[in-house]
Amino acid sequence: MALDRADFYDAELARHNRHLQIAAGVGPDDRVLDIGCGAGQTTREAARAATQGEAVGVDTSAEMLEVARRRSAAEGLRNVVFEQADAQFNPFSAAGFDLCISRFGVMFFADPAAAFANIGRAMRPGARLVWMVWQSREHNEWSGAIRQALAPGTAVSADGPNPFSLGDPSTAKDLLSVAGFTSIDFADVREPVFYGPDVDAASEALAGLYLVKDALARTDEPPGKPLQRLRDLLEAHMTPEGVLFDSSAWIITARRAGVVASQ
Ligand SMILES: C[S@@+](CC[C@H](N)C(=O)[O-])C[C@H]1O[C@@H](n2cnc3c(N)ncnc32)[C@H](O)[C@@H]1O
Repeated sequence: MALDRADFYDAELARHNRHLQIAAGVGPDDRVLDIGCGAGQTTREAARAATQGEAVGVDTSAEMLEVARRRSAAEGLRNVVFEQADAQFNPFSAAGFDLCISRFGVMFFADPAAAFANIGRAMRPGARLVWMVWQSREHNEWSGAIRQALAPGTAVSADGPNPFSLGDPSTAKDLLSVAGFTSIDFADVREPVFYGPDVDAASEALAGLYLVKDALARTDEPPGKPLQRLRDLLEAHMTPEGVLFDSSAWIITARRAGVVASQ
């Protein structure tokens, strides 16, 4: 059975999530901002750790936020809030957060410089940033192999969302420095992505991804042939733990510059 979109991301990224949780190290008093929180797994985890603090998840997708709110309510979490907002422009309260986290939710800004500056203003001086982003496309087997199976020799549309926009550390570092962050570091995370327990589930789940829709839109073949090649690829990636593809991510850590008020 295929996983729904929220469960798909949580399952796809389960191995990555452990690294992000450790790097974030949410403390009991932390006020945490989760950018592009989707269905809110990382926001809820932050809220559970911030027993005296709070977690705010922000996303543009009403559909994902509805799942996030439902799941938080089912858990009885009282210190978590989800807001539908564009993190690029949203007027967050100034210096309101001690920690900003994101699991693959910060690569899609039309104007990353403006977005990072806006997020920076929401963080108090000295606040920590811990973001997980994909490394560049060539270090992510899932992207290239799926593209080639579906639409060999074609390139991804330049005007679509680019999950690899922060893959180059020097670009990401420059953007963060200009936005007022210091102590910027990149930790290499190599974990496979999980697409489903079997080929049927993985095919169904992948059909909803932009990567697959874009590739199918770029080929002249009737969809049966490319989709069969995709199934063959997924078969080749079937392991005792399900359908897995290699991937490479960065955990970017940084601090909001500025004078930290003495206690
Ligand atoms: C790849 S998903 C990751 C979702 C979630 N962090 C997770 O790991 O399950 C990227 C998310 O970023 C959100 N997003 C994209 N642009 C955004 C923006 N400008 N402001 C807020 N959220 C945004 C999308 O709606 C989507 O939910």
